[in-house]
Amino acid sequence: MYNHIIMKILGIETSCDETAIAILDIEESENGASVRVLANEILSQIELHRPYGGVFPNLAKREHEKNLQPILDKALAATGQVTIDAVVVTQGPGLEPCLWTGITFAQKLGKEWNVPIIAANHMEGHILASLLKKENAKEGGESFAFAAPEFPSLALLISGGHTELVLMREFGTYKIVGKTRDDAVGECFDKTARLLGLPYPGGPEISKLAAEARKENLKLGAELPRPMLDSNDLDFSFSGLKTAVLYATKDRKLSADDIKKYAREIEETITDVLAHKLEKAIEKYSVESLIVGGGVIANTFIRSSLQKLADSYGIPLYLPHASHATDNALMIALAGYFKLEKKQEKDFTAKGNLNL
Ligand code: KG4
Ligand code: ZN
Repeated sequence: MYNHIIMKILGIETSCDETAIAILDIEESENGASVRVLANEILSQIELHRPYGGVFPNLAKREHEKNLQPILDKALAATGQVTIDAVVVTQGPGLEPCLWTGITFAQKLGKEWNVPIIAANHMEGHILASLLKKENAKEGGESFAFAAPEFPSLALLISGGHTELVLMREFGTYKIVGKTRDDAVGECFDKTARLLGLPYPGGPEISKLAAEARKENLKLGAELPRPMLDSNDLDFSFSGLKTAVLYATKDRKLSADDIKKYAREIEETITDVLAHKLEKAIEKYSVESLIVGGGVIANTFIRSSLQKLADSYGIPLYLPHASHATDNALMIALAGYFKLEKKQEKDFTAKGNLNL
């Protein structure tokens, strides 16, 4: 007889500049997990960090401290004050002062409610968020089905802080097979955008102008460098792209059309590098499915290019729902759920202990 598990899990995410709390109702059956979103609160600090052109860790920490309790109150109110079975908190990777704010808050809740606290990995959260598939609306919140991908599966994680290729040979086992040696993809978008005089975060700005350039048939005469495109490993390097844009635009007055041309070339160069390395990895590991996660996959040009790549290999591509691409606590609650499910008894008896 299959053991049905129904749990209400609260996730907390404070690794960077989003303060987020989500409450999920997860029901496990023989067909997989069904995830109902009871609350999904996100407070973005983008406006606050904009003048600095990036995230300022101590400022972010102060905001998390100020906002966690009101966001928790809002999330609980949205659920009609349900009883929580477990609290999950992002353990890393992320900005250390910010992570500790979330962890301390989770520990307080764990004690108060006498429930276990689970430490989750932020990157695993991004992978799992991409595997959620929207179900027909059910009563009381959005609903998603969760299905394991075809193995071996390869995940590309692209955000402001990370660029990683992760191989998953079976559910829950991860091996990093490639990563950036310097800047992350999102960081590259943000830094090159800044050189073009565009506001932070630069990714969406570049994306918008690049689309206009394609529509208006504007193209830069020269190609930007594609660092490490032909290296034998699966690592990335993006700092050379930023330097190339710096030298090409230094002491020049750029017209609106020039900026669009650069935006297009930057977006297409980054996409090319990502697709090329993915292709190499697909062949090397005989990959059966692709997963892409992280804030940069909000980019529609990258989305459609990677879809074409997956189609050319005849393998499925799992992308996150647009609202789950950037940092959120739903993915953290989900990562914690699978950790609990795997060694449920142990974690449930270790009440209140955060195993860091
Ligand atoms: O995952 P995320 O929300 O936060 C981190 O963990 O970093 O990713 C934020 C990053 C920023 O660098 C931002 O510029 C980039 O994602 N981004 C985009 C787009 N939307 C957000 N990059 C390219 N195109 C976009 N449409
Ligand atoms: Zn992230």
